[in-house]
Amino acid sequence: MKPSVKELISQMTLEEKAGMCSGLDFWHLKGVERLGIPSVMVSDGPHGLRKQDEQADHLGINDSIKAVCFPPAVLSACSFDRDLMHEFGDAIGKEAQANDLSVVLGPAVNIKRSPLCGRNFEYYSEDPYLAGETAAAFINGVQKHHVGTSIKHFAANNQEYNRMSCSSDADERTLREIYFPAFETAVKKYQPYTVMCSYNQINGTFASENPWLLTDVLRGDWGFKGYVMSDWGAVNDRVAGLKAGLDLEMPSSNGVYDKEIVAAVRDGSLDETILDEACERILNIIFEYTEHREKQEFTLDADHELAKKIAAESMVLLKNDSILPIKDTEKIAFIGEFAKKPRFQGGGSSHINSFRVSNVLDVVSENANITYAKGFPANADIYDESLAKEAVEAAKAADKVVIFAGLPDSFESEGYDRAHMRLPDCQNRLIDEILAVQPDTVIVLHNGSPVEMPWLSRVKGLLEAYLGGQAVGEAVADILFGKCCPCGKLAETIPYKLSDNPSYLSFGDGENVTYQEGIFVGYRYYDAKEMPVAFPFGYGLSYTSYAYSNLRIDKPEITENDTVTVSVDVTNTGDIEGKEIVQLYVRDLTGAARRPLRELKGYEKVSLKPSETKTVNFVLDYRSFAWYHTGIKDWYAASGDYEILIGASSRDMRLSEKVHLTTQKTLPLKVHMNTTLGELLADKRTAEYAADFKKQLDEIFGASSSQEQGDGDVAISDEMNNAMVASMPLRNVVSYGMCGKKELLDMIEAMNRL
Ligand code: BGC
Repeated sequence: MKPSVKELISQMTLEEKAGMCSGLDFWHLKGVERLGIPSVMVSDGPHGLRKQDEQADHLGINDSIKAVCFPPAVLSACSFDRDLMHEFGDAIGKEAQANDLSVVLGPAVNIKRSPLCGRNFEYYSEDPYLAGETAAAFINGVQKHHVGTSIKHFAANNQEYNRMSCSSDADERTLREIYFPAFETAVKKYQPYTVMCSYNQINGTFASENPWLLTDVLRGDWGFKGYVMSDWGAVNDRVAGLKAGLDLEMPSSNGVYDKEIVAAVRDGSLDETILDEACERILNIIFEYTEHREKQEFTLDADHELAKKIAAESMVLLKNDSILPIKDTEKIAFIGEFAKKPRFQGGGSSHINSFRVSNVLDVVSENANITYAKGFPANADIYDESLAKEAVEAAKAADKVVIFAGLPDSFESEGYDRAHMRLPDCQNRLIDEILAVQPDTVIVLHNGSPVEMPWLSRVKGLLEAYLGGQAVGEAVADILFGKCCPCGKLAETIPYKLSDNPSYLSFGDGENVTYQEGIFVGYRYYDAKEMPVAFPFGYGLSYTSYAYSNLRIDKPEITENDTVTVSVDVTNTGDIEGKEIVQLYVRDLTGAARRPLRELKGYEKVSLKPSETKTVNFVLDYRSFAWYHTGIKDWYAASGDYEILIGASSRDMRLSEKVHLTTQKTLPLKVHMNTTLGELLADKRTAEYAADFKKQLDEIFGASSSQEQGDGDVAISDEMNNAMVASMPLRNVVSYGMCGKKELLDMIEAMNRL
């Protein structure tokens, strides 16, 4: 009979166990031949396989196998489509099985704190709910094939500058509400086989040796069962890391850190059972894969088609003043080298050696009505007079112009952040020149993160293609010419300018990066500030239109143990088939805490034929209403009213209803000499104690009896009195002679016993 994992571990030497906890080389884990433990391979990445056989590196410098480059996360998240993400994961899982990969290093779910993060193209969203749902669906698809995922980079890795050493300094509520939930959702729903810890420190402790992060939160609170691996080179102190819950060091320090583990066990500073547990978690996952090898017959061609579908169903039509779709008979000038050389992926560890790349110019080559002028290069910011002149002439001669603009590779990449949020100057300049001669202009953008758009009000059409993966050309052509009805929506806000972004004053700091905006990230901030934005989160146009009606809530009164089902009817009111993304936001009306104006708590994508109506259902639970209360170390939603909003974007609410929540959960009462009367009056348990003091103070200040003076003004009105009393600390009842000190201390003790 095959020995169990525990039996195997009991037969391993101390050196073998330490060795099991670090890589054999760049991409392999070690095996132990005498015990039948195989060496398995892991590989990037989130949107395609970057399997390197020789000359390994973690920055995508050397070539890997020919593979399919699916759309990077920046685009696929805009699909708002769990089924599509599942199909995407399913394809990656099959490719991984066929290529002997035990774990795929993705998805990457870090929150987009600033448009400047060089790696935003690998991340899904500014919103933790969307990022979590998207990642979970992808993970489920991959792991159906017994290939693991490595959800990364855990956690708060939101900038590239000094990413290997800086400390992301954020309060716990912010981490729990914004930076953790994408990981939490994925872990709770589908148990990614592995989690990759990030390079950075969190509040002064490296993620790779952070027991709170890797053990208390990840395993304790969320129930993670797999193994934690380090990002490539994220280990700082190996023994501290192992104790904190970092099982696998990657890639390999050539045994340097293995020796430290062995020495620590020998000198008694590391309990050997900790090492055994790490081995057990690693071996469980290795065998989960090796014992379920599948013979997969995937074809690159079929996966290219899937890459095209994901791209076409994710690109976001941002503006359309009756200019799109283009008719085959119209004379169109395509301008900008991106038409020929689209930027479809980003640089670094996720860089795929694509087996084929489509460009829009080739796709439309049979259409004689289309001309092309390079206008500007795709890979540099160089203004060329003669290229510009030729482009302007082409624009004049055409009925309509499509300018393919975007960010060159050198403007954004893993490893460094963007210096600004602008397109290359040469592109903005040519766009201006073209708009001066041709108002019927559409812009297609190829970028991994938002750009400022100084020409926005003057263009008639705008398609955000982001980084579209290798089938980008076909997807863009299908949307421009109306073969595909656009149905993606923005997974992030596009602000007008960089300085509008909430992290503007602290993003990219050196050693300590203060997350001073707290939970107010992305639309949570722009909405609270009532700030105009170029395009809001969740926004996207279609070639058809949709009407929302008949919002129903199955229970208007709920408790913390209930779920509530929300239903809404959506009708396609246009004359072509399309898909609408219906969004559900929750607004806290209780006033119990400072919270965003509204937060995404549900979305569904629904396909509708012309005139067709479908009912979309959402289920909300207590967590949908709750915020993270650090005092009780738990999620908390106060009793009171909440608004449920159904929107077509975060700023386009179509219907709303209220629910009333009643919770038995109480917050801990800690009354002391400086607790204010206001706090006591607001709490049912203590209101009675405070009411008596308030009455006495009202008399002292003589609020309602205050005499009018001079021009009708009063020294103190009821309102002023109430406000003053509310912010008065308990100790003042002694100072004002309303109570003896001993009497007050007894009363405080009595209240604290409540
Ligand atoms: C990246 C990871 C990647 C790893 C292996 C690191 O530099 O941060 O995302 O999976 O390299 O290539």
